[in-house]
Amino acid sequence: MTDWQKSDWRKKPRIQMPEYTDAAALSAVEGRLASYPPLVFAGEVRNLKNELAAVSRGEAFLLQGGDCAESFAEFSADSIRDTFKVMLQMAMVLTYGAKVPVVKVGRMAGQMAKPRSAPTETVNGVELPSYRGDIINGFDFTEDSRVPDPERMLQAYLQAAATLNLLRAFSTGGFANVHEVHKWTLGFTDSNEVAKYSDMASRISDTLDFMEAAGLTTETNHELQTVDFYTSHEALLLEYEEALCRLDSTSGKWLAGSGHMIWIGDRTRQPDGAHVEFCKGVQNPIGLKCGPSMTTGHLKALMAALNPNNEAGRLTLIARFGAGSVGEHLPRLIKAVEEEGANVVWTCDAMHGNTIKSSTGYKTRPFESVLREVKEFFAIHNAEGTVPGGVHFEMTGKDVTECTGGVRAVTDEDLSSRYHTACDPRLNASQSLELAFLVAEELSARRDTMAQAKAG
Ligand code: PEP
Ligand code: CO
Repeated sequence: MTDWQKSDWRKKPRIQMPEYTDAAALSAVEGRLASYPPLVFAGEVRNLKNELAAVSRGEAFLLQGGDCAESFAEFSADSIRDTFKVMLQMAMVLTYGAKVPVVKVGRMAGQMAKPRSAPTETVNGVELPSYRGDIINGFDFTEDSRVPDPERMLQAYLQAAATLNLLRAFSTGGFANVHEVHKWTLGFTDSNEVAKYSDMASRISDTLDFMEAAGLTTETNHELQTVDFYTSHEALLLEYEEALCRLDSTSGKWLAGSGHMIWIGDRTRQPDGAHVEFCKGVQNPIGLKCGPSMTTGHLKALMAALNPNNEAGRLTLIARFGAGSVGEHLPRLIKAVEEEGANVVWTCDAMHGNTIKSSTGYKTRPFESVLREVKEFFAIHNAEGTVPGGVHFEMTGKDVTECTGGVRAVTDEDLSSRYHTACDPRLNASQSLELAFLVAEELSARRDTMAQAKAG
């Protein structure tokens, strides 16, 4: 795509983006960001694409997770470490339980701009613009705080850079060494899941000891000492994305420098819209949210626009229909993909179709619905003979009470005790781990069935 320009999105209809009132302040910020280093390097993005290509062939599994919205207030080493830890634990459960390599992608280091269902919000008769994520405006319900402020992009860049720096340090500096598998357990979790995890960690340690005794040195093995951990976010705020977009001198291709993988939200996926236009021109792996309103015609148009060369690993379709609705929508979209012979990764966002209001007035998600959507996703891929490539969760390493249910049974009444999210409700560490065990069971069952089919 030689004639594509990183500013081309400006000629297309844009929705869900702020109207900045101070044009001079906005362009000053854009200029500064454009002079800063990108956060990711093209080689890493190509590696992720290769790993996702393996996912599309059923040779690896994608685990994508993190906050709905990262906030300036909750930014700390502890929260980054805890989310990273839970993702490592989940990945270990999947790798060990289902014997499959796991591609780990955080909704981290840039997940700060949010699409909203309504432009304004009314509280006690006062109507103000909606909160759109810390990169755009403030969460506090005051007139001042809700004004979009371009300076926030600089703070977001700083936070993303520091987050990524810590994630890289954790990934390669010893923390993620598989010999530490016992230490990833979070102090506050005492559920069944933790006991199950601990049990599995002991078996892994035993295996490592056995390998050492047999003369295979695991202590210095690079694969066991480090992990590849990638970042992702919704590329919603296109001024920020454009300012961090760079031409990669090795390949001559454009790179979104804001994160390894970027995705297009379910509300901003119009084939002729600004968000699709921006994503078309960058070489990063692209995620595309597919909700119930996705038509087969739109999906075909989007696959052609976003992946014209049918490159494996380029496009990840993130299905988010809601428990009970997967059967109505997934088969028709799978059919559209198969008709086009398109290479895609299919993953299941079991969060965004399952949001409800609790009896106590909180926006929540029942754990049972999240689990049910994952099971429906697997069942349909098993029936269609296609690959269930991954799962996508809103989750945190903190011991929050935002989603109901799970083995430690968070009730509607419990929600008020530790409800900290800046946007959508997240699974807590224990709920996340519980899901990982259940997904590992689905994957193992699938593997057994396929092995039997092959043998018989
Ligand atoms: C999200 O992932 O936080 C989100 C807003 O999702 P969707 O676009 O699928 O509603
Ligand atoms: Co969300």
